[in-house]
Amino acid sequence: MPHIEVKLEAIPVDKPLRLEHAGRAVVVIRSADRITAFPDSCPHARWRLSDGEVTDGILECPGHGWEFDVTTGACLTVPAYCLKPLAVCIETDCVRIELQQSDFASRRCDPASQILASQSRELEIAKPVPA
Ligand code: FES
Repeated sequence: MPHIEVKLEAIPVDKPLRLEHAGRAVVVIRSADRITAFPDSCPHARWRLSDGEVTDGILECPGHGWEFDVTTGACLTVPAYCLKPLAVCIETDCVRIELQQSDFASRRCDPASQILASQSRELEIAKPVPA
């Protein structure tokens, strides 16, 4: 499966990071205790989320200010939309992000799949991030 690997130390805390591979762009967000990744495209008008800001676990899109929970991808501004969490695996000092085509396809939320996705991602990324 296509994927991106990045060194943990290359991901700044609370500052969105854009990574690209094979025509797909992702935004990676490192918080104090977890790392999450989403397609780097706002579901509203496709502005780059990596140009946004993270404050208290909320990512604000630079386009029109929609806010997203960085843990689940839930849109706090318009709940019918969400960010699709990508599978993230942390091994020692390396972060691997899976790039499944279907994760880049939809802008609308499927609440059931989002809940399942966020639960599975939490388990995968629950390892503490070294300081
Ligand atoms: S493009 Fe993100 S809020 Fe409009």
